[in-house]
Amino acid sequence: MKTTVNGIQISYERRGRGTPLLLVHGFPLDHSIWEPVVPLLEADFDLILPDLRGFGASEVPSAEATMDDFAADLAGLLDHLGIEKAAVAGHSMGGYVTLALARAWPERVTGLGLVASQALADSPERKAGRLEEAERILAQGVGGVAEGMPGKLTASPVLQGALRELILRQQPAGLAAALRAMAGRPDSSSLLMGFDGPVVIVHGQADALIPVERAREARDLAKRGTLVEIEAAGHLPMMEMPGETAQTLKGLS
Ligand code: MLT
Repeated sequence: MKTTVNGIQISYERRGRGTPLLLVHGFPLDHSIWEPVVPLLEADFDLILPDLRGFGASEVPSAEATMDDFAADLAGLLDHLGIEKAAVAGHSMGGYVTLALARAWPERVTGLGLVASQALADSPERKAGRLEEAERILAQGVGGVAEGMPGKLTASPVLQGALRELILRQQPAGLAAALRAMAGRPDSSSLLMGFDGPVVIVHGQADALIPVERAREARDLAKRGTLVEIEAAGHLPMMEMPGETAQTLKGLS
């Protein structure tokens, strides 16, 4: 389905019945990464699965964006669906969007899920690297990302092949905008410390992109934080170990 939010066409799927749960994909992916957990969650949740602006079937408005832009699109999508409050869970960059949504609209977020994500901002080096990568993608396309990223996301050759195809379908401007948004995001530690609802965290112990220590720190910061570490998962627990991931997300019902 598609709707126009903040002047941008946003594509989304809606599945299941129950507590509204917005599932936000990470970089450089789209909502399809959640497919393995949907059948495990749809009896308990009204699942809303958007493609962020610049990704999947959503419009690519420009090569610039902020986390607040992504969050505002999701708030607009909830308005469109007539949903006042929802639990929100995000994968990696989707976790950064989730935290931005909770910062801007705390009254609308009943619980937070962080899947392979973190509360920290980028170091100056990481920030500079992201801005360079954005320029490189705009000049050379997404091919380099499609070659380099899957091996960092998961050790599974089967998943790597599917991820390569998924990344090749993304648009250079969309990826550049997201890299710039990630580089500019603030630290969310104080937000987590002040959040009153449940914070459920899932993280792979073999995550090569965001070390599991970041998840432990987030759990310790949250008032009502729970962390499930999955030994056999890398950066994509919802695809690598959907059963454990879905079970943990049920803490948001
Ligand atoms: C993601 O998986 O969304 C990104 O790799 C997160 C990041 O680079 O911080």
